[in-house]
Amino acid sequence: MDTNTLATAKKLDSDDVAEACFGAAARSHFLLEDGLTYLNHGSYGAVSKPVMAAAQRCRERIERQPCRFMAEDLPVALRKTADRVGDYVGAKGDDIVFLDNATTAINAVLRSLVLFPGVDVLTTTLTYGAVMRTLEFVCDRAEARLIPVHIDYPVPDAETVVDRLVSAITSRTRLLVIDHITSRGSAVLPLAEIAAEFADRGIQVLVDGAHGPGMLDLDVESLGVTWYTGNCHKWLGAPRGSAFLWTAPDRQAFMRPTTISHHVANGYIPAFDWPGTKDFTPYLTIPDALDFRARFGEDAIRDYCHDLACRAGDYLARELGTVVGTRESMTPFMVSVALPKRFGAAKQDVADALIRKIRDEYHLEVAIHAFEGRLWARLSFYVYNDMEDVDRLLHALKSVE
Ligand SMILES: Cc1ncc(COP(=O)(O)O)c(C=O)c1O
Repeated sequence: MDTNTLATAKKLDSDDVAEACFGAAARSHFLLEDGLTYLNHGSYGAVSKPVMAAAQRCRERIERQPCRFMAEDLPVALRKTADRVGDYVGAKGDDIVFLDNATTAINAVLRSLVLFPGVDVLTTTLTYGAVMRTLEFVCDRAEARLIPVHIDYPVPDAETVVDRLVSAITSRTRLLVIDHITSRGSAVLPLAEIAAEFADRGIQVLVDGAHGPGMLDLDVESLGVTWYTGNCHKWLGAPRGSAFLWTAPDRQAFMRPTTISHHVANGYIPAFDWPGTKDFTPYLTIPDALDFRARFGEDAIRDYCHDLACRAGDYLARELGTVVGTRESMTPFMVSVALPKRFGAAKQDVADALIRKIRDEYHLEVAIHAFEGRLWARLSFYVYNDMEDVDRLLHALKSVE
């Protein structure tokens, strides 16, 4: 049986055949270079061939009658896509708008808010750099106080994380900006528990779920947060330049895109659905990415990739004589493993040099982050990875000078 074709994958219903579609057998659906070991799906995703083809079909459809497409087809297609994304993430399509990436969505929220002197904004020390810079910008400008709450790494249990954040709340706290899954350290934070504590105190919560869609079984509406943004171009497999923003209905009237365009005064959806002329293909191809994943099965993807991440983390840490950064319950499809001290100082330029060396000399891509006093390799696992990739990384780490 040819397990390399999607046509075959579509018919799968028994576990053993489904298993055969993951790992090396799934590589043929992607454009990744021959011989490349790709353990960094988390940074920029990797678009599959069927989704690339769908994007090309979408572009050709636009070019057949650009004016009619923009004026008549696009508004309908965007709303239909929002409904499909809503179904997938547990939300109504009417509460969802599209943006190019999570950074833009975070900017739209933070720059729509009116902060002022005397207000405290909480975040964590694991917050992504671009988000932290945006927070610094808006807080400095408003003379509000930004408080990055320290989260120990390796990450303690969920209760300790919640307690740490709750104990940082003051009578002046108005906003929490929190990752669903951290970039450095790749930890799934206990979002529902955190959101419940903050909602009880009337504090708004903005979730950076850049890594959420495609890794987590999301039920955004039930989380009790104010905003949730997720990238569709990472784990969901849509073309780059596709993210969504969900806003609680009672906050939508206050939302403005960072780029003000024609319909800014006409409400949440009109304001975001027309940001000016651009290529809307990445948004409109999200349903094709969901269709591609459906051929593997959402549960099967989650089981395969999470299990691989947990096994790989334990194996690599044991072989290197180090530790894994997260317990299993906080490990998504990415796992971070400490590198031995011999790899050098905990500085990002040391990490970047190591990334380049491994890329050039071993044809292998892996993220390495410097934080909490050491270097951490972050391994990402998607449908095309298997344990042989981890052995190749181990070999590279053991031989690299
Ligand atoms: C936690 C987190 N937030 C935000 C981003 C930014 O995503 P984008 O570059 O798509 O805006 C990333 C990117 O890796 C991330 O890991």
